This record gives sequence, C-alpha cells and structure tokens, in this order.
Amino acid sequence: MIETGRLILREYTLDDFDSLYEIMSDPETMQHYPAPFDKDRTMKWITWNLDNYEKYGFGLWAVTLKDTGEFIGDCGITLQDIDGEMLPEIGYHINKKHWRKGYAKEAARACRDWVFENTEYNTIYSYMKYTNIGSYSTAVSNGMKKVKEYPDPKNTISYVYAITREEWESLV
Ligand SMILES: CC(C)(COP(=O)(O)OP(=O)(O)OC[C@H]1O[C@@H](n2cnc3c(N)ncnc32)[C@H](O)[C@@H]1OP(=O)(O)O)[C@@H](O)C(=O)NCCC(=O)NCCS
Repeated sequence: MIETGRLILREYTLDDFDSLYEIMSDPETMQHYPAPFDKDRTMKWITWNLDNYEKYGFGLWAVTLKDTGEFIGDCGITLQDIDGEMLPEIGYHINKKHWRKGYAKEAARACRDWVFENTEYNTIYSYMKYTNIGSYSTAVSNGMKKVKEYPDPKNTISYVYAITREEWESLV
C-alpha cells in the first residue's frame, strides 16, 4: 500500500471490476488505444495485475481517494516492450470525472519513488502514443524527459519518457 497526500494505492481486487470497466469502456478515455475495452478485456486487466504482484512484487495498483475510498483509476509499474526491450514502465488511467486534479501526477510520483526505493532499477520509463498529451504531460510532471520516439505498429509513433536514479536523487 502506498499513501500520498490525497490517495491510497493498493492492490487490485476482483471487486474493482465495475469501477474499472467504467473507465476502460469509455471511448474518450481510451481514444489513444486501438479500442475501448470490453468486459472480458477488463477482467483480464485485473487478473494480469494480480499475476504481476505475484511474479514481480509490483503491477498497476488501484488508485483510491483517501477520504472516501472511491476507486478513481490505476497507476503503477509493469514491464513493457518498449522498442524491443522489456523495461519497467509507469502507467496510469484516471476516471475522466477526476481528470486535471493532479491525481495522476500525485500517484505517478509515488510510484516513481517506490521504484527507486524498493527495486534495483536505475531508470524508469513511461511510453505512449504520440497523440497522448495527457500521458506525456504527466510523465514530464513526474520529472521525466523525452528520450526517444520510434515507429510502433500499435501507436503509429510511440514517445518514450524516462528518469534515471541519478536524476531522481537530485529531485528528492
Ligand atoms: C493521462 C491521465 C492519466 C492524466 O490524468 P490526470 O489525473 O488528469 O493528470 P494530472 O491532473 O495529474 O495532470 C498531470 C500533468 O499533466 C497535465 N495534463 C493532464 N491532462 C492533460 C491534457 N489533456 N492536456 C494537457 N495537459 C494535461 C496537467 O496539466 C499536469 O501538468 P502540470 O504538472 O504541469 O500541472 C488521464 O488523462 C487519463 O486517464 N487518460 C486516459 C488513459 C491514458 O491514456 N493513460 C495513459 C496511457 S499511455
């Protein structure tokens, strides 16, 4: 469990399905993905993360509001194929009711700190479709810099952002 000023990040449970489906089935939220998720894909998202916790000790965590317990999205670390290399990546999805309140930034910073404090990784990444301004703006507000862009059949072009342990140490 990770606690920030306004948020608690905790492991997913199957009970999060309905709240997650509201986010992942929404066309506006999923505009930078090939398609919104159906119920099956949403359930697989949760079980993929339950597997990740077992295998790696991390995954995408449920982001909840500390005051009310409301599930507002997810944020965390997964291993992603970024231009042919499996790299640790910070990802985030926030319910659009709660966009632009600084929640993704708050959660992503906590995940970034968690990685450098609890793993041996020396660089942490975020990558996204080149059109995903919200995603790369969140990466920048997480102290990351753009390190690469590459042609990606899934995203047309993917942008890669990163922060090194050394850069992180100079921030905190
Ligand atoms: C990307 C996403 C998680 C951002 O969530 P959020 O809680 O609204 O983001 P925050 O309020 O914490 O904003 C973080 C920074 O990004 C900026 N930002 C967020 N959305 C933005 C947008 N649509 N356009 C421009 N800037 C944006 C904010 O101004 C803030 O910058 P600052 O620190 O300089 O003030 C949210 O838009 C989302 O869920 N998108 C759909 C899912 C998705 O595409 N996830 C990423 C997959 S790669």
